Amino acid sequence: MNRDKVQIFDTTLRDGEQVPGCKLDTKQKLVIAERLDNMGVDIIEAGFPVSSPGDFLSVTEISKIVQNATVCGLTRAVKNDIDVAAQALKHAKKPRIHTGIGTSDSHILHKLNTTREDIIARAKAAVAHAKSYVEDVEFYAEDAGRTDNAFLAQVCEEVIKSGATVLNIPDTTGYCLPDEYGAKIKYLKENVKGIENVTISCHCHNDLGMATANSISGAINGARQIECTINGIGERAGNTALEEVVMIFRQHPDLNLYTDIDTKQLNEMSRLVSESMGMMVQPNKAIVGANAFAHSSGIHQDGVIKNRATYEIIDPADVGVNESSIVLTARSGRAALAYRAKKVGYELTKAQLDVVYVEFLKFADVKKEILDDDIHLIIAASKIEGDL
Ligand code: KIV
Ligand code: ZN
Repeated sequence: MNRDKVQIFDTTLRDGEQVPGCKLDTKQKLVIAERLDNMGVDIIEAGFPVSSPGDFLSVTEISKIVQNATVCGLTRAVKNDIDVAAQALKHAKKPRIHTGIGTSDSHILHKLNTTREDIIARAKAAVAHAKSYVEDVEFYAEDAGRTDNAFLAQVCEEVIKSGATVLNIPDTTGYCLPDEYGAKIKYLKENVKGIENVTISCHCHNDLGMATANSISGAINGARQIECTINGIGERAGNTALEEVVMIFRQHPDLNLYTDIDTKQLNEMSRLVSESMGMMVQPNKAIVGANAFAHSSGIHQDGVIKNRATYEIIDPADVGVNESSIVLTARSGRAALAYRAKKVGYELTKAQLDVVYVEFLKFADVKKEILDDDIHLIIAASKIEGDL
């Protein structure tokens, strides 16, 4: 069975940077862009050039240094936005302009105060204008998640005629259910003339915690580009997390989809973005959270020590984590205590372990976590017979 590639479009530097209080300067953005390029990201959305002189500069400088990835700049469906983006992207080896407009009734009536006919006209004009600068033009139908499918199909068909190479179907408000979002992609594939010549892209927000599930559902139904950010950062509750979609394709070969991301760089990339933005990663975050490979309950620890696969579906080394950790707490059992004691130099017999375990529980009941130094204290406080 042939496997299809899903392109990874990273928008950490654009949508990701829309996190309140997490602004990056050009130097920080250059470091991140270089690392994303090196990790195998296919498209780097470098910014929204017309939004500020700082963003214009960042997109310009990123365009100069990126070697492999396409560099993309965001615009509204506004002529001047597109002119400015084209200028910022002029040094890029592979430039892409990402333009678009709201297509849901909510956006048309309450934000843009216009009609569906006008939206189509503006969308077509924007794509045609972008096409006068670059070959690669991505169109976003903002709030596509809440856009009526028949109208969305009409917009898509028109922008394809105007030269769009990628159709971005954003669930801007994170509203869709995975089946609903997947069905939307399927509907477009079946009802838009010319769609076989363009790439369909998923851009899902996480307001209901379904961004990753929706993106995967989109890919299962024919999308071949996913827009995502490191650590899932972004506007409000964030975007689809890059590390999650990449590892889902890797751990589920049954989907016959793959990416070109070097997964061993994921953990370090997560740290770089977290530190640059001053935004901590929640400990239970999938793939890159501090607890993603930490085992704390006795039953799980016993299993993992016997065979890692009993409670781990990912080898931590595959995402750049040295090894899983066995965390000692009052919920831990003898197997975990023996394992950690051995790591710090004590080979305990069964009888010795029974004695040390009693002392361990006294410590663990008053301390959240037992560290290596505590193990020495516990052993010293235990009345052990024989040599250690
Ligand atoms: O969420 C969204 O709709 C966007 C577009 C600008 C692509 O970020
Ligand atoms: Zn977005």
